[in-house]
Amino acid sequence: MITITLADITHLTPQDYDALYAQASPERQQKADRYLRQEDKLRCVVADALLRHAVKEALDLAHFQVEPDTNGKPRLKDVEGFHYNLSHAGAYVAIAYGSTPVGLDIEQYRFDADTDALSRRFYTEDEQICLRHLLPAQRKERFFQIWTAKESILKYWGTGLRRPLDSFSTLTIEKDTGIVLHHTKLEGHCLTLATKDPHCTIHSLDLHLQLRD
Ligand SMILES: CC(C)(COP(=O)(O)OP(=O)(O)OC[C@H]1O[C@@H](n2cnc3c(N)ncnc32)[C@H](O)[C@@H]1OP(=O)(O)O)[C@@H](O)C(=O)NCCC(=O)NCCS
Repeated sequence: MITITLADITHLTPQDYDALYAQASPERQQKADRYLRQEDKLRCVVADALLRHAVKEALDLAHFQVEPDTNGKPRLKDVEGFHYNLSHAGAYVAIAYGSTPVGLDIEQYRFDADTDALSRRFYTEDEQICLRHLLPAQRKERFFQIWTAKESILKYWGTGLRRPLDSFSTLTIEKDTGIVLHHTKLEGHCLTLATKDPHCTIHSLDLHLQLRD
């Protein structure tokens, strides 16, 4: 079973940011310091809080270190059998974790984006045909579902955008590789988990309340 924990950042206050920053690892604090926009800083420290929460829930560990694997995908140092992946976009930060590899992606819908041009450039033939069969309104939404599916698969593999987006089809990925795509619609956003585990559960974490416990 893969668990996805989701945090909505829109209700977090400047005091919440200070508290999350103070709890974050020194590496996270440095990373947050490098961002210019307050929103990016907030998503950065919230991601750290979600990782600490996941590691506590799954492994009952309070202290751990993060290191990149050979592809650059972050993992826990000296811990076997725990896999996780973070994603942040717009109002949300999320973590997926469990005992099998995972890739997670969230995107905020951008209805002004030229999705027809983007799909011609980045999507496989079968993905483009699938989109062409839809009405314009449904097409936009499906475009973002395919986009998060592609990113989640790249993040599952750990290759990031080094592997071209049109080098694999999200429509046949399960048959081709055994990777299952779990899609969730959020307010104004789209989330996809890529994993070989057929089961996943999703729940929200209210960090504003948690900081006051
Ligand atoms: C890595 C990448 C897939 C992230 O996707 P994104 O849609 O921009 O951002 P998301 O919010 O979904 O994901 C960011 C998280 O992915 C994780 N991540 C970083 N590198 C990753 C990788 N190689 N594989 C999987 N996950 C990765 C990190 O935890 C990061 O969160 P953090 O910065 O708070 O720690 C994307 O930035 C990318 O491909 N960049 C191109 C450069 C590249 O290939 N980098 C990979 C080697 S460093």
